[in-house]
Amino acid sequence: MPDVSKRTEQLTGSPIRRLAPFAVAAKKRGRTVYHLNIGQPDIPTPKAFMDGVRNAQIEVLSYSPSMGLPATLDALVSYYAEHNIELSSDEMCVTIGGSEAFTFALQTTMNPGDEVLIPEPFYPNYLGNAIVADVNLVPISTRAENGFHLPPSEEIEARITTRTRAIMFSNPGNPTGVVYTREELERVVRLALKYELFVISDEVYREYVYEGKATSVFDFPELREHAILVDSISKRLSACGARIGVIASHNKPFMATIGKLAQVRLSPPSLGQYGLAAFLRDPSHTETIETMIRKFRSRRDTLYDAIQTIPGAICQKPAGAFYMCVKFPQLDDSEAFARWLLTDFESDKETVMVAPGSGFYATPGKGNDEVRIAYVLEEKKIVRAVEVLGRGLAAYEKVRKEVETPVS
Ligand SMILES: Cc1ncc(COP(=O)(O)O)c(C=O)c1O
Repeated sequence: MPDVSKRTEQLTGSPIRRLAPFAVAAKKRGRTVYHLNIGQPDIPTPKAFMDGVRNAQIEVLSYSPSMGLPATLDALVSYYAEHNIELSSDEMCVTIGGSEAFTFALQTTMNPGDEVLIPEPFYPNYLGNAIVADVNLVPISTRAENGFHLPPSEEIEARITTRTRAIMFSNPGNPTGVVYTREELERVVRLALKYELFVISDEVYREYVYEGKATSVFDFPELREHAILVDSISKRLSACGARIGVIASHNKPFMATIGKLAQVRLSPPSLGQYGLAAFLRDPSHTETIETMIRKFRSRRDTLYDAIQTIPGAICQKPAGAFYMCVKFPQLDDSEAFARWLLTDFESDKETVMVAPGSGFYATPGKGNDEVRIAYVLEEKKIVRAVEVLGRGLAAYEKVRKEVETPVS
């Protein structure tokens, strides 16, 4: 039998998806499973978006232009202008989700064996993409104790080599919810200019910021040729299935290459583009998003308060996205714990599913005492789920102690 490629043999699969069969089995046994593991918003996709899809006058569902439909690109130009980001339609390309945008970003900026710096913990699909692009992710350590903000510049600079071509991050962050301050991004900008690096900024959670505003990579005029924006409507519009994202840059050779890559994959989805253009034309689109943000802010506060009741929990209140990474020093294998919650634990026929922290790190052994919690549940359920999680942690510790000190 012919072998699959060496590159793809390194792919590990998603740690969250690996646990899914255990959740299915727990439900079959009659357990209620609270899903604190999911990154998919539960809020209905805005009506204006869905109407845009329903009312599109389509006789033939044809390919769209490789860079995106002109009406969608025009609507995006206005959207970014509303956020003080000046982009023309030829400085952006509609992609198949943010996923294709960061795939394109890595393929366009990196040669095989090159390095990209990345604050860790990070969104796990960056690693899969780096493997496929034959690129090395070089992690920059961040810590729960200070809310996963960036370390001092010297620590980042020490990781730069002759192979380093870019620094990449999500801001607001998945899995941490960190929102980088302007000051810490200024430090990144200085390093990017000093070492001629691209800055790939994944801003798919741009509006999901609960204090102040997120700083965009385009807020630094001096970074004009270095800045690459990765964007998506999946989370902001609760439209993960539309598969619509954006890659944008002022760098002309970069965008010319994106144009060629875009042709290689033919075209982005048409239906989602009709929906997006209609949504952005709707005069109340900003209000619609603001309503969603209010909901998530309230959920974040509820989750944060609930987590404080669990002994030992270490986390700062995250400022953005809809995730929280919590360190539980009593854990030493977060994946085993997450599995055990589904296979061996119940509290009044209920259990909880969390995302093990280890899946968000490239450095072996890191994240074994952390879990990521997504607050995409109604508040009553969040409170209950955290109660169950707290009981699960206490029971797990007891079981572990019993195993470690067998009665003689
Ligand atoms: C930080 C970040 N970037 C990109 C994506 C990819 O989203 P999509 O491809 O649906 O746009 C996700 C999804 O969870 C994410 O969390």
